[in-house]
Amino acid sequence: MGKIAVCPGSFDPVTNGHLDVVRRGLSLFDKVIVAIARNGTKDPLFTIEERLEMLHESFRDMPGVQVDSFDGLLVDYVVKRQADAILRGLRAVSDFEYEFQMALMNRKLNRNIQTVFLMTGLRWIYISSSIIKEAARFGGNTRGMVPDIVCEKLKEKFGTSQR
Ligand code: PNS
Repeated sequence: MGKIAVCPGSFDPVTNGHLDVVRRGLSLFDKVIVAIARNGTKDPLFTIEERLEMLHESFRDMPGVQVDSFDGLLVDYVVKRQADAILRGLRAVSDFEYEFQMALMNRKLNRNIQTVFLMTGLRWIYISSSIIKEAARFGGNTRGMVPDIVCEKLKEKFGTSQR
């Protein structure tokens, strides 16, 4: 069996930055499972079903990618899926503390699972799901920063004619 990574997150919504990290991950792993934490974000914009739909559509052209969701601890899900590692994207200094804390906690919970960080491409370094939602909420055009389906869903959600 090849090497498998779980790329967990809230994906509320998925951005081109996420796509870039997963694409890079496929050069290290035979399979990447992109998994939404069901108990993740407290107040999500999109339902789990909407987020799954957007992920399925966004990764349609990447055969090594599987889309899923999970409840409970990430490390338990990684074991359940017989995966070897956790894959996370790292953007800039601001991500480091949070990611460091999470990686160390996950290691404490299960010493056999490694966390692998990959830098996003420079062109996505400023993009986060939160800033995308903020821009879209006030009518900003997010095309080119998120997959097309996400752009459409944001328009539906906020009912705005985006510039
Ligand atoms: O995209 P996000 O919101 O930064 O992702 C955070 C996520 C979902 C990876 C993290 O909250 C998580 O792993 N949640 C599942 C519960 C868990 O195992 N937490 C980490 C150890 S306490």
